[in-house]
Amino acid sequence: MSRSELSGSEATLVRDGELWCEDVRLAEIGDAVGTPCYVYSEHIIRSRFTSFASTFKDVDHRVFYSVKANHNLAVLETLRGLGAGADVVSVGELHRAKLAGFAGSDIVFGGVGKRNDELEAALAAEIFLVNVESESELCRLSEAAARQGTVARVGIRVNPGVEASTHSYTQTGHYGTKFGVAREDAVDVYARAAELSGIEPRGINAHIGSQILQPEPYQQTLQLLVDLVRDIRRRRLQVDYIDIGGGFGIRHDTGAGIDLDAVAHMAVEACSDIDVVLLFEPGRWLVAPAGILLTRVLYTKQLGDRVYCVTDTGSNDFMRPSYYSAHHPIEAVRDGPREVTADVVGPVCETGDFLGRDRKLPKLGEGDLLAVMYAGAYGLVMSSNYNSRPRAAEVLVAGSSYRVVRRRESLDDLVALERDNA
Ligand code: LLP
Repeated sequence: MSRSELSGSEATLVRDGELWCEDVRLAEIGDAVGTPCYVYSEHIIRSRFTSFASTFKDVDHRVFYSVKANHNLAVLETLRGLGAGADVVSVGELHRAKLAGFAGSDIVFGGVGKRNDELEAALAAEIFLVNVESESELCRLSEAAARQGTVARVGIRVNPGVEASTHSYTQTGHYGTKFGVAREDAVDVYARAAELSGIEPRGINAHIGSQILQPEPYQQTLQLLVDLVRDIRRRRLQVDYIDIGGGFGIRHDTGAGIDLDAVAHMAVEACSDIDVVLLFEPGRWLVAPAGILLTRVLYTKQLGDRVYCVTDTGSNDFMRPSYYSAHHPIEAVRDGPREVTADVVGPVCETGDFLGRDRKLPKLGEGDLLAVMYAGAYGLVMSSNYNSRPRAAEVLVAGSSYRVVRRRESLDDLVALERDNA
């Protein structure tokens, strides 16, 4: 059995006793680019997008990649080239999407707290849909549209009151979270939107959370949204789109994800007798398995009954293990019998600074490379400069070649905004 099967990661494979990404040795990237370094497989991004789209081939649909999962321009360009749209949540993400070549008509803009300048930027870009989360936001958008003499196509985000089983920080579909308008109010809010000048309501949407592994919450949500579409149409208002959001999860132990076929089956059933286009906003599902985080061992030591493997990669570089207690498999880049149980930690001055605890690994020495799996989503995008640590580099592998798609930050980069008074 290959190491990649053991770890369940798609981004790597074992050849000649070491880990490769596509046809490039990870050790070659580690030596040339340094660590920490995020490495993405273009092939995996492509194949996952194609597979997502073909799973839903029996429903009229569009896929808007959720830029927040991995906003690197090269990743965005890859997905755009495959026909994805972009789901953005800030003017910064809109800027990136436009730079990566997405047309306004291929962008949806969501988020619970959009500023005036963000609403204005969305209107100026003539984006496909602004997903609005409150009546106050609708009024603001209407005013902004009037100022610009334009019309905003709008989706109303509904809080469906569905609690999906996932980390509480990433549950977003039940009351007690800040998202959307109450489902009881949704039809009235939609009707109100239709009365406002400069607003053209066209769809309803929900996003119930992230890293969801069961299809059932999607079924509940979809059923609710379909019922709402019927209620809205009874008021003789037009609805063209149901946006079900993202959240499709991946298991890090087996590599299996949510049963997307089951979700597709439900979608076909639920939408069989209403004429709508389904919109999806997947992030993690498309890119998490395509990425690994390459890190180098600085020291190993025994302290009491524990072995610590101190790496050059901290929780500032990869927050998921410490922030969500997320378990990401960690593999030695050079294969060997797993003889040691160690805590893989970083250099940041906090006990919460770890990449993984109690990991079975080969005996490691200074300079050895490790790969943290499923790091293609919510990795670099959530990293920070805490402890004045320059952010990691990013590399995109395609076949036997690779390129740095974000250079490592320099010490000058760290202070540039404090020194640059221009
Ligand atoms: N659409 C909306 C409105 C969202 O808020 C999100 C994610 C997505 C789509 C994409 O969700 P995905 O398919 O990637 O699960 N930092 C957390 C995940 C937070 C997700 C926030 N919203 C993590 O590392 O697990």
